Amino acid sequence: METQLKNLQSEALSAIEKTKTPEDLKSLEVKYLGRKGELTQILRGLKDLPPEEKKKAGQLSNSVKKTLEDVLETKKAKLETAEIEKALKKDFFDTTIPGDARPLGHIHPLTQIQEEVERIFNQMGFGIMDGPEVESEYYNFESLNIPSDHPARDMQDTFFIKDKDDGKHGKMVLRTHTSPVQIRTMEKYGAPLRIIVPGRVFRYEATDAGHDTTFYQVEGLLIEKDISLSHLKGVMAEFLSRLFGKPVKVRFRPGYFPFVEPGLELDFSCLICDNTGQREGEDCKVCKKTGWIEFMGAGMVHENVLKAGGIDPKKYQGWAFGFGLTRLVMMRYAIDDIRLLTNSDLRFLKQF
Ligand code: DAH
Repeated sequence: METQLKNLQSEALSAIEKTKTPEDLKSLEVKYLGRKGELTQILRGLKDLPPEEKKKAGQLSNSVKKTLEDVLETKKAKLETAEIEKALKKDFFDTTIPGDARPLGHIHPLTQIQEEVERIFNQMGFGIMDGPEVESEYYNFESLNIPSDHPARDMQDTFFIKDKDDGKHGKMVLRTHTSPVQIRTMEKYGAPLRIIVPGRVFRYEATDAGHDTTFYQVEGLLIEKDISLSHLKGVMAEFLSRLFGKPVKVRFRPGYFPFVEPGLELDFSCLICDNTGQREGEDCKVCKKTGWIEFMGAGMVHENVLKAGGIDPKKYQGWAFGFGLTRLVMMRYAIDDIRLLTNSDLRFLKQF
């Protein structure tokens, strides 16, 4: 019995010593000290021993039991500490190490200027409107006083969407200008109106440094009871002065657009040569020595257009304009190739 107990103790101690996880330790505890455990079995056998042996064996087994319990307890604490240390090591985060720099993007130059344009017109009481890029022939042309047999259709080379006809408004096209939103807004809100429409437009063009199939425009529309072209002149001079941060003059020239009557072109004074056409004793290259920069088309909204939008031309008049946002950005930053603005080349975009 004595040897049996001693063997059991040394076997148990070395097994406990070798365990690496709390789970293994638990099963060792069950193995030796559990209800059906080895030591428990021995203790149960004590009662069958003769009295003098019983006493000795009883003391010994109690001391073995106590030893095993103590060692198990100590080992348990050790393993738990080790677990905690391991977890801490895994989640350890050194706040003093410099972070990884994340590449930070910025707003595209076109969007930057668009936001500036929106802000200025907003300050003058204009709302910002949006419209579909895939548009019907009706909104893109007919409603704007450009019937299908009219030569003015040739002014804008158009992408047609194959086999698409919305049934009510003719074939679908990629909008060639932002002007269709004039009609959509009149239909929706009626008169009076004061809006601008920044947006992407499409033309069937051969691309080169000055032309692209995709570019951005800003449409303007103001409808009131007593409105004239002098208001347009004032609004545009104010807009351009705020945009460029210095006084800008504007002038009108006659122009033709089917959706306005009279139609006109608006130029603004060249900022490079201060409207003189001369710079440092030489002809100004930016305005080709005229002192003026061609900027946009405009005019008094044609009465057919007002009617198409459901507005009574006897009660209301208004003017409209359309300029190229893309061209404005090119002028602002002296960009000489329009394609740079839509081809997502980061080497170019990072400069803004
Ligand atoms: N939609 C014209 C174009 O893309 C620009 C334009 C001219 C818009 C005169 C207007 C306007 O509203 O009155 O060429």
